[in-house]
Amino acid sequence: MVSRTTPRWLRWPDPEPGARLAFGADYNPEQWSPDVWAEDIQAMRTAGVNIVSLAIFSWARIQPTADTYDFGWLDEVMDLLHAGGIAVDLATATASPPPWLTTAHPEILPVDVNGATISPGARQHWRPTSPVFREHALRLVQTMAQRYADHPALTAWHISNELGCHNIYDFSDDAARAFRIWLRERYGSLDGLNAAWGTAFWSQRYSDWEQILPPRLAASHPNPTQQLDFKRFSSDALKDYLRAERDILRAITPDIPITTNFMVMGETRGMDYADWADEVDFVANDHYVLPGPQALDELSFSANLTGNIAQGRPWFLMEHSTSAVNWQPINVAKRPGELARDSLTHVAHGADAVCYFQWRQSAAGAEKYHSAMLPHAGTESEVFRAVTDLGATLGRLAPIAGTHRRPARAAILFDWTSWWTSEHDSHPSSRLRYRQEALDWYSAFLDLGVRVDVLPVAAPLDGYDVVVAPVLHVVPAALAQRLNAYVDGGGHLVTTYFSGIVDENDHVWLGGYPGALRDLLGIRIEEFGPLLDTEEVELDNGTTGTLWTDRIDVTDDRVEVLARYRTGNLAGRPAVTRRATDTGSASYVSTRLGQAGLRPVLAGLLDAAGVSSELPEALRGRVELTVRGGSDGGDGAEFWFVINRTDEPVDLSEVGGDVLGEPDGAVGPQSVLAARGVTVRRR
Ligand code: GLA
Repeated sequence: MVSRTTPRWLRWPDPEPGARLAFGADYNPEQWSPDVWAEDIQAMRTAGVNIVSLAIFSWARIQPTADTYDFGWLDEVMDLLHAGGIAVDLATATASPPPWLTTAHPEILPVDVNGATISPGARQHWRPTSPVFREHALRLVQTMAQRYADHPALTAWHISNELGCHNIYDFSDDAARAFRIWLRERYGSLDGLNAAWGTAFWSQRYSDWEQILPPRLAASHPNPTQQLDFKRFSSDALKDYLRAERDILRAITPDIPITTNFMVMGETRGMDYADWADEVDFVANDHYVLPGPQALDELSFSANLTGNIAQGRPWFLMEHSTSAVNWQPINVAKRPGELARDSLTHVAHGADAVCYFQWRQSAAGAEKYHSAMLPHAGTESEVFRAVTDLGATLGRLAPIAGTHRRPARAAILFDWTSWWTSEHDSHPSSRLRYRQEALDWYSAFLDLGVRVDVLPVAAPLDGYDVVVAPVLHVVPAALAQRLNAYVDGGGHLVTTYFSGIVDENDHVWLGGYPGALRDLLGIRIEEFGPLLDTEEVELDNGTTGTLWTDRIDVTDDRVEVLARYRTGNLAGRPAVTRRATDTGSASYVSTRLGQAGLRPVLAGLLDAAGVSSELPEALRGRVELTVRGGSDGGDGAEFWFVINRTDEPVDLSEVGGDVLGEPDGAVGPQSVLAARGVTVRRR
């Protein structure tokens, strides 16, 4: 449900500072004695910090007991920040309920799938559906809003923190009650629910709403539609909580924009952020680099998707790290250049704010080994120097503030429902990874130097010449119609194994796979051919498939077989197909080719669709290109971000434009982009 019409960016304190990018961090002054605060603000000014997120985990400090509040310290910090010219993205402070609350009301604690109650002692130990939690949390929100409504430093509201990070799935009795209400709204009648859930199977028919439970630990595989609906419900329950906080803030401070930090990143999947985006005034995201060969591509993919969740408008990078995190098995520090490159990759995809977790590295607590802007070593440190350099670079990039991401000609569709459903249990293969398949296509685009947008599935497809829909498993009739219309209108659709298989209730489309997309693709599959971990198949185009194969029959004479299996049970049969229509096409890739195998296949498909790289040949694959410009800012200019994806210098002499900004030393005298360097050109 859309609840706002006009997106709003930060309301900077007076006097309005003009176009600029926001730069800062989470600031947790309650961890330090007050004599450190003035020093903090001095160092923030040195680094170019102009905004901090404050009070995120301050509930216990602000409200030490049920009946007492202590705002003195927060007033002082707000005043100090304002006097120092630093704006405040003020948290509602509800993320971590204090011990007095969980002791008095243990019924707010979440319950896991096995029925175990989650203990307090860390953070986010609350049920989104608990009326008792809501009562206490919303009272705090109201108190915060009333207290700081007129504070000149207040520039945005930060609702809670990373909603769902630890509490997305709660199986408590509160959740069960709320789940039933949600199901009644969705299905109207028990008959409707029984039909949708296919309860004729295994004697699961419900005769009373009270019989329905969350998918708690069961003897065997729980009902798949129950699982899917519980995922939908859980995302909605947190969204509903977000709205409850937001509505209080809106009523008291209508001029202050509101956000909450999403986690578009890696395998974090419980929250359907494309569906949440309209609830906030501007989208904010947290991202941490995940180690591995596709680390940088994953960063770019997440930033790209966030930019498109924000519909191309500027968004706020609320958290990332200056160097190592503390929550991986082994936490590796960033190498020289990576701090700026990682931050600027987000800016390249539309972020107008670059903020970190956190300002000053903690001396105590679970995150004391997590990097920060001001590390344990103090201001005399490489990290602080790199932070300060980035602050200066962002200052030079001020002209891009307010500009939008320029759409590409190609898109990758991203669908939370297909993500959730394609990886359910009791499937042909438990090895399928939805996001990995999407990321492999993204890496192939990067390797070819072709810009691509990672688009939420409901986004309009107009203007895209090529749309790749990897593992688009759930295809309701309306989506099938949209995709047909897209191809009829001249679009080139590409999809993969395990796509088009089920409808919105996770019921199989009958008559042969890929059900909903069978006619569009002009193929028919009778049985899936998942591969064992030890198996791979060769294709006659020189690529290798793993994970999956399909025994494809071609059913339409306009289908061209682009590649066949050369080895395995399906040797000689089609592996990659393309059905051309009058002006468009629909292609199918039936196995997992991975980044390297997708590269030549994608190159051929892009070529046939007339989409080519905007980069000089020598730079393709070695740099990532993004383009910002137009819309609310940027005087009509176009800005090219060129990001070195490699650990080698790259010759930029063929890239024109005036240098707008780049970290010091990123580009050498011979127009050589250093390893991990970034440059921004006005064109
Ligand atoms: C999340 C949280 C922060 C902090 C960081 C550490 O993003 O929001 O409070 O725990 O992780 O990486």
